[in-house]
Amino acid sequence: MRSKLSRHDTVIQLIDVKKAYRVGEVVTWGLRGVNLEVKRGEFIAIMGPSGSGKTTLLNMIGLLDKPTEGKILIDGVDISKLKSKDLAYIRNRKIGFVFQFFNLISRLTVLENIELPLIVRRIPRKIRIEKAKQALLLAGGDLSWLPKRPNQLSGGQQQRVAIARAIVGEPAIILADEPTGNLDRRSARSVMDTFIKLNEKGQTIIMVTHDPEVGNCAQKIYLLRDGKIVGVREPNKEKCILVTVSHTKR
Ligand SMILES: Nc1ncnc2c1ncn2[C@@H]1O[C@H](COP(=O)(O)OP(=O)(O)OP(=O)(O)O)[C@@H](O)[C@H]1O
Ligand SMILES: [Mg+2]
Repeated sequence: MRSKLSRHDTVIQLIDVKKAYRVGEVVTWGLRGVNLEVKRGEFIAIMGPSGSGKTTLLNMIGLLDKPTEGKILIDGVDISKLKSKDLAYIRNRKIGFVFQFFNLISRLTVLENIELPLIVRRIPRKIRIEKAKQALLLAGGDLSWLPKRPNQLSGGQQQRVAIARAIVGEPAIILADEPTGNLDRRSARSVMDTFIKLNEKGQTIIMVTHDPEVGNCAQKIYLLRDGKIVGVREPNKEKCILVTVSHTKR
């Protein structure tokens, strides 16, 4: 799981990151000065109310958008100085995304979806298939899904496929925005079990959630409010998505 490209212990560093959104004359501050350091192998949750800047923060870290002010270092590289070609390279090599609505491509099979990050890297087909299978198993999926289309799977199964796609290229970081937001409790719990297992293998994970029980599955919880980090707390691991017995039996 460890990125072969770098050996920095700090995988992400944000220094006074601010983000302003301008719509016509109106300026909204998505982030108002965020400082954050994520070490390799950490599993952190970012929590906060709607509109507090969680998605904005994740988009900055995922290089999907640029800060208005401040600096972001990924594996020690200041990304504000990079050209879009280099940003795309880092995004493909270093970051795996997991989204609330899975974002799988419906006209592709499960196998083709998982292979995508490797196609971009021009990895030969035989190796791609092997790696896709390994990733799907690691994500708790089943190989019988490979020829299916995403809409032939349940939400929980689709999220496993999305996780497989996120990990297939062995990224330095997994970024997950509300990964359980569209799942029932049991599927949410199994997705969290997968994250915990990946983290135990050394995977760095940054997860956004507004669900306290999901936050409790991480190692550390950062609280975001009005575009600022206002606190850090230890999770209550015993309350990492409790699925009641009657639920489990169903
Ligand atoms: N593209 C945009 N244009 C204008 N304003 C935006 C844009 N994206 C976000 N904002 C504003 O920035 C602030 C932070 O939004 P963000 O989406 O990061 O919140 P969030 O914490 O992810 O909320 P939620 O829990 O509802 O997903 C909000 O005030 C929002 O209205
Ligand atoms: Mg959001």
